Amino acid sequence: MRLHVADHPLVAHKLTVLRDAATPSPIFRQLVDELVTLLAYEATRDVRTQPVRITTPVAETTGVKIADPSPIVVPILRAGLGMLDGMTRLLPTAEVGFLGLRRDEETLEAITYANRLPDDLSGRQCFLLDPMLATGGTLVASIEYVLARGARDVTVVCLLAAPEGLATVEAAVGDRAEVSVVVAAVDERLDERAYIVPGLGDAGDRLYGVL
Ligand code: URA
Repeated sequence: MRLHVADHPLVAHKLTVLRDAATPSPIFRQLVDELVTLLAYEATRDVRTQPVRITTPVAETTGVKIADPSPIVVPILRAGLGMLDGMTRLLPTAEVGFLGLRRDEETLEAITYANRLPDDLSGRQCFLLDPMLATGGTLVASIEYVLARGARDVTVVCLLAAPEGLATVEAAVGDRAEVSVVVAAVDERLDERAYIVPGLGDAGDRLYGVL
């Protein structure tokens, strides 16, 4: 597993405002959108391209376009949905799939409650969107889901990760596939309720204004 922590003052500034409990939902949503666009730039660094001949007003030349089959962007519902626009702004030709996984608050295990993905993901670059990599349970289940459909190149875009969750993903994935995690920051730890510390609270609740 490759880990990329975005090291940029704009990312750090926006993340600080997100963390602030006084930031209201509309501002929170706007900042998530902006932050994901910055992370998307890093996450798409290895997006596959293919050559294309074009004619400029001056001459013929060879450029590149995003290769076929197109990448697929998969927000993990519910909170990952808040990251979709920021990601597809940079990858407008990507297909979008959906995966609904939630954490059982007692067992902390991931439960799949919805999915809308092609059966065959072989040869597709998959971008999974989930703001909080906490225990890693949801993310491991999501990665397993796309690997079972043939994906071998998976990039996860998160706002925050806990060291415990990163270790869980690393141990689960092993060398079965190319998995990269792009994150704005790695925080200190998880608390006893599996919240990221210092974190930003429940990302879904803060995105959608649930108090
Ligand atoms: N999910 C969240 O939304 N926040 C956390 O801190 C952990 C998991």
